[in-house]
Amino acid sequence: MTLHIPAPWHWLLIATLFIVYPIFHAIYNLYFHPLSKIPGPPLWCAIRLRYVFSQLSGNIVQDSAKFHQKYGHIVRVAPDEVSIVDKDIWADALQAPQISKDPRWWEPLPGLPALGIFGAINPDNHARVRKLISPAFTPRTLISQEPILQKYTSLLITRLREVVSANPDKPQNIVEWFNFTTFDIFGDLLFDESFECLHHSQYHSWMALLFNYAKSTVYNAVPGYYPWLGFVFKKLLPPSMKKMIRQHHQFILDKLDRRFKAIDRPDAMSHIIKAMQAEKTTISMDQLTTTAMDIVTAGSETTATALSAMVNYLVHHPDKLQNLTTELRTKFKDESEMTLDALREEKAPYLNAVINETLRMAPPIPWLPPRITPKEGKVICGTFLPGNTTLVSQIYLMNRSPSYFHSPDTFTPERYLPSSTSDPTSPFYNDQHQVVQPFSVGPKSCFGQYLAWAEMRLILARLLWAFDLEMTQEKEETVWEELKVFVFWEKCGVWVRMKVRDT
Ligand code: HEM
Ligand SMILES: *[C@@H]1O[C@H](CO)[C@@H](O)[C@H](O)[C@H]1NC(C)=O
Ligand SMILES: *[C@@H]1O[C@H](CO)[C@@H](O)[C@H](O)[C@H]1NC(C)=O
Ligand SMILES: *[C@@H]1O[C@H](CO)[C@@H](O)[C@H](O)[C@H]1NC(C)=O
Ligand SMILES: *[C@@H]1O[C@H](CO)[C@@H](O)[C@H](O)[C@H]1NC(C)=O
Repeated sequence: MTLHIPAPWHWLLIATLFIVYPIFHAIYNLYFHPLSKIPGPPLWCAIRLRYVFSQLSGNIVQDSAKFHQKYGHIVRVAPDEVSIVDKDIWADALQAPQISKDPRWWEPLPGLPALGIFGAINPDNHARVRKLISPAFTPRTLISQEPILQKYTSLLITRLREVVSANPDKPQNIVEWFNFTTFDIFGDLLFDESFECLHHSQYHSWMALLFNYAKSTVYNAVPGYYPWLGFVFKKLLPPSMKKMIRQHHQFILDKLDRRFKAIDRPDAMSHIIKAMQAEKTTISMDQLTTTAMDIVTAGSETTATALSAMVNYLVHHPDKLQNLTTELRTKFKDESEMTLDALREEKAPYLNAVINETLRMAPPIPWLPPRITPKEGKVICGTFLPGNTTLVSQIYLMNRSPSYFHSPDTFTPERYLPSSTSDPTSPFYNDQHQVVQPFSVGPKSCFGQYLAWAEMRLILARLLWAFDLEMTQEKEETVWEELKVFVFWEKCGVWVRMKVRDT
């Protein structure tokens, strides 16, 4: 056996690769990189690793908050990336057609045969998918979908009545109940088969994958930054994992297949099927399946988050909870009166103010997945960003900025009521409401926003109409501002005490 000892020049090569080159690269990044004029924490500007570490540990929002306080509205957080807290970001970046998503975040998951709507970076491909799917989620289609939403809200209330009456002293984790409801609604809207979470009061096995699917976006981005690591990662990934991803894809594919053969019914999928049958658009079943997974993830997780945050803020602000409960219980004598039409802003102002205020304080997507500047560069929020610069819009930090809102960190639904917006003596009169865009704007904005609003209004209104809610001392309080973020907030639980309302 011969032992192979590297010759001295091999050592030199290794040292250059692993030590000298990174040091030179870091120095270049700090002093000579086109972004070196933009302020930022030096370690972060020098190497991307620090940023990646922050993302993987869920601290990116809290970390960015500190930097913006120290360095201002535009901060360099990685060698080629800036973070922005400025209201002009909407017009300058999100509405600008030449700005696209950073492809490093959207490598297909191993085992998935196609990218869905989120990963459709190419504008033509994206426009094609969006044109096919979005007509299923307009305010008009919502009218015919209302019975489905009412059905699952009723089921939620019924199940909660059973559980609460059986065990009145036990605190409830309301996040779970919202999770069940929003998932079940999507099962029905897309596949004509609910996931039966509410029915069994437990998660469907498929949901476990979806939780990880969202979180995996963050992990999946790492190989995008370090292609060699991606190579190792793919080699190391256990085949069982790839198999599981494929199986879940197949599960949805089968559901879609059954749905395509089923009778016509007024759900979201019916619009998509009609468009496909009319051959107005072409899309593969694989892409449709992944898009369906994207939609379930994007739509249920976010809506459940918003509802959980609402309840969390309300039980910790009993006076606001009282205001809302009073509005609902004086206006509606019977559950059946709470239709989507009756819950509009003009008819139920406090309810809508609570939703607006929660979306301001705890936007379910606290920062937008990175965008990238075109090769010629672009002026964004007053700063020229050279080509290929990655930029992140900090939705949450913008909503919490004292430059845009009076007392930004206090939960005050009243700021959204006409008494504040039209009274110059109100301290909230100068609040800049157009800054708050929880659904984003422009070609990639959320087309599920009407459905989301409908679900939020219906579920919150009917819940508070039927139950008295209270915070509980038995479980630790959830402080939203301290939650970790992996694209979405990692909400472990919001515990409340519930009582069936005395009538
Ligand atoms: C309160 C609830 C919701 C919030 C806060 C929210 C927020 C957002 C945001 C900020 C984006 C843009 C992401 C980006 O630019 O990278 C987005 C995109 C999207 N949302 Fe929502 N969303 C919600 C509910 C829903 C619902 C109910 C659906 C169901 C159809 C949905 C489907 C989508 C889809 C398909 C996209 C991608 C659009 C595209 O790329 O063209 N969302 N959402
Ligand atoms: C609710 O669902 C999300 C994913 O959609 C998951 O991350 C979270 O752990 C669930 N929360 C609870 C309390 O079950
Ligand atoms: C809500 O309650 C607070 C405190 O009780 C009160 O000051 C405020 O005016 C109320 N708002 C409305 C719209 O009733
Ligand atoms: C932009 O950056 C990526 C990754 O650093 C690189 O692969 C790509 O070639 C660059 N594109 C341009 C136009 O500079
Ligand atoms: C509340 O939010 C909705 C949707 O974003 C918006 O249309 C409405 O104007 C907001 N209300 C106020 C008073 O700003």
